[in-house]
Amino acid sequence: MNRPSVYATRRIPSPGLELLSERCDVLVHQEEGPPRREELLQNVRGKDALLCLLTDKIDAELLDTAPTLKVVSSLSVGFDHVDVAECTKRGVYVGYTPGVLTEATADFTFALMLASARRVAEADAYVREGKWNIAWGPMMMLGEDVNGKTIGILGMGRIGKAVAQRAKGFKMRCIYYDAFRASPDAEKEMGVEYAPLEKLLAESDFVTVHVPAAKETTGMINEERLKMMKKTAFLINTARGAVVDEQALAKALREGWIAGAGLDVFQKEPLPKDHPLLSFRNVVLAPHLASGSKQARSAMAEMAARNILSVLKGERPSSWVNPDVEKTRSLSAVKML
Ligand code: GLV
Repeated sequence: MNRPSVYATRRIPSPGLELLSERCDVLVHQEEGPPRREELLQNVRGKDALLCLLTDKIDAELLDTAPTLKVVSSLSVGFDHVDVAECTKRGVYVGYTPGVLTEATADFTFALMLASARRVAEADAYVREGKWNIAWGPMMMLGEDVNGKTIGILGMGRIGKAVAQRAKGFKMRCIYYDAFRASPDAEKEMGVEYAPLEKLLAESDFVTVHVPAAKETTGMINEERLKMMKKTAFLINTARGAVVDEQALAKALREGWIAGAGLDVFQKEPLPKDHPLLSFRNVVLAPHLASGSKQARSAMAEMAARNILSVLKGERPSSWVNPDVEKTRSLSAVKML
């Protein structure tokens, strides 16, 4: 039997590529950045599997270029970069990496909350820039408490729940909004209260975004909704940039509708060098890092590789977004290993 061929659009943490290479011929894009579109289309041609990242657009054009593809496995929990319906139509299995990055992402959400409320990035710059001239100032660089405040979790999926768990340790009141309300028992167990979006925005000291990017969530945090937030509140986003209208957020910060923000994701990444959000001291910025612990990224790499191997062995992958695909093409029809 021929060894399956795989294109990996980036080098990824161990043991991802090692696992794949044991059973498949793997072509790996070697540069630090993503492949250009033409390069992606050229290299995916004739491959059985694609290991991609959220920076690669997987659409009808790509799938038409590579009719041999059996599986697309994304090293991410978000899959808004993949046209899942087009994959399903063509019998292409789509894998992703939920669960293994939940805790790391929730940790980072708290890092941004603490950093923005307690001005950690600003304080670091203050010391490095030689501005720390008075030993201890009773009124120097005061921030806001995190403990005991109200956190509003927008999107109560895996990551939203992990954030709620941490909030309990900080003795916070925890309210959430989600298109699907949890049962009263589940709410009680998690220690959270459901709130309509408007109420959540009006009552939270920290509004943290954990919904996926989709038609329904694009621009969800817009001018009108930012105006509903408290003047002392912070907006935290570790989900997707598309959920927040950045022009409206810049206006909110400029005009003092909210106290600050902690942002890991943006409409356009990398963030353009002249972006208005770069000009605010009360905004903590990160380069899409929330899942970026060594442990989480390694687990994601392993899961992404195993999702490919499972499909090529004719087995269901551990995490896939389109179980309907089996109706278009059975697992026995894609089995190569
Ligand atoms: C990161 O943003 C992911 O979707 O895994």
